[in-house]
Amino acid sequence: MDNVIDFINVNRDRYLEELKALLAIPSISALPEHAADVTRCAEWCADEMRRIGLENVKLIPTPGNPVVYGDWLHAEGAPTILFYGHYDVQPVDPLNLWTSPPFEATIRDGEIYARGSADDKGQVFMHLKAVEAHLKQNGKLPVNIKFILEGEEEVGSAHLDDFIREHKNDLGADVVVISDSAMFGRGVPSICYGLRGLVYFQIDLRGSSTDLHSGSFGGAVANPGMVLAQLLAQMKDRGGRIKIPGFYDDVVPLLEEERQAWATLPYNEKQYKKDFGVPKLFGETGYTTLERTWARPTFEVNGLLSGFTGEGAKTVLPAVAMAKVSMRLVPNQDPDKIATLFEDHVRKITPKTVELKVTRMHGGKPWMTAYDNPFVQAAGRAIERGFGRKPVFTREGGSIPVVSTFQEELGLPSVLFGVGLPDENAHAPNEKLDVANFHNGIIASAILYQEIASIGA
Ligand code: BES
Ligand code: MN
Ligand code: MN
Repeated sequence: MDNVIDFINVNRDRYLEELKALLAIPSISALPEHAADVTRCAEWCADEMRRIGLENVKLIPTPGNPVVYGDWLHAEGAPTILFYGHYDVQPVDPLNLWTSPPFEATIRDGEIYARGSADDKGQVFMHLKAVEAHLKQNGKLPVNIKFILEGEEEVGSAHLDDFIREHKNDLGADVVVISDSAMFGRGVPSICYGLRGLVYFQIDLRGSSTDLHSGSFGGAVANPGMVLAQLLAQMKDRGGRIKIPGFYDDVVPLLEEERQAWATLPYNEKQYKKDFGVPKLFGETGYTTLERTWARPTFEVNGLLSGFTGEGAKTVLPAVAMAKVSMRLVPNQDPDKIATLFEDHVRKITPKTVELKVTRMHGGKPWMTAYDNPFVQAAGRAIERGFGRKPVFTREGGSIPVVSTFQEELGLPSVLFGVGLPDENAHAPNEKLDVANFHNGIIASAILYQEIASIGA
């Protein structure tokens, strides 16, 4: 193992240069004008897989963006890792808030700034380099490994579940490894054992066939902007509890043991407010901030649109109003069931004065695993060696829809070992990845394969 770690240390600068090339490809899955870039990025990943010595490398088509596959299966009798990551990234707007261009990776103060640096290209690349180090130094890996890299994670992984069902026989493994989350904090490595799920909707209201003069018609015709505001205001009570009937029926309560463990984590509420410019925190009564974001569901307005929003004033009664809303779900809430409850509720409380259209968008199931499973423990040892500190166990508020599919369709546990940081600006301007975490992450990944091998198949 030492020769592998030496190799990684010697190649530190080369890794950054190569990662910059990957980060230069604007593989934004949400924007049709970047379709060619998404394909180019998939091809770049496949070429890189071939360069480092993975075999059977190919782009597997789906009705959407291709999955990049590559494997190395010569560790006879050893366990098999199924590695999952995504090569697509989020849009970059608002562009003017970026200090350096999002697709020209720039290193400042020990951070590599670029869209996709943390979410998820940098973390995927970390594993490719760990594999490369083993193969270059020893001509072999201690485990078998199959890589699948997805190009539609940021738009809801619409085709991945079918992909997994169709390729079930080729995806056999003992454990899934994913690096697509954050560490608990700077210098506090962590393993994530739970993710929230998601269900997302667009609500459209129409109050008249055209915008109207608010003097001539105001007071007689319902204002869809107002109706929408009233509708949304009814979704949560003052204590932050969601008022959709039946919404909490399947929520697994927090374990006392989890609450106690989380209360000991080095979390500073004052700093949190300061870091994100929040005047005063708000959330469900009776829960701490970590509990609210990791283990409790929520309802959020993601976007609102109605009427005149330009400079100055315009006396208008808007014809339409639109909201994008989503709910983060926790075990054992089911997105389909929650979607039905939500739609029924919205229909029921929308007044007859407007026309209502409810459109369901993407989503995914929540996920949670027991952290005493041997693979999670193996990851704990690898992280301790790579980062010089035992990891803490966390859950996360974000969603990776495919994780529950791995469990349900393939019966596989997942190990979520993320090296991002909570302030890495994922999905926001100035996304970044800490260079030292990236480097230690390569070492920890290389050790992780060894640790998983030592468990046996
Ligand atoms: N890497 C994130 C998920 C994540 C975020 C995990 C924070 C742990 C902590 C992933 O790329 C993501 O952004 N997922 C989307 C899923 C959605 C598009 C279905 C999310 O959480 O909004
Ligand atoms: Mn991600
Ligand atoms: Mn993301």
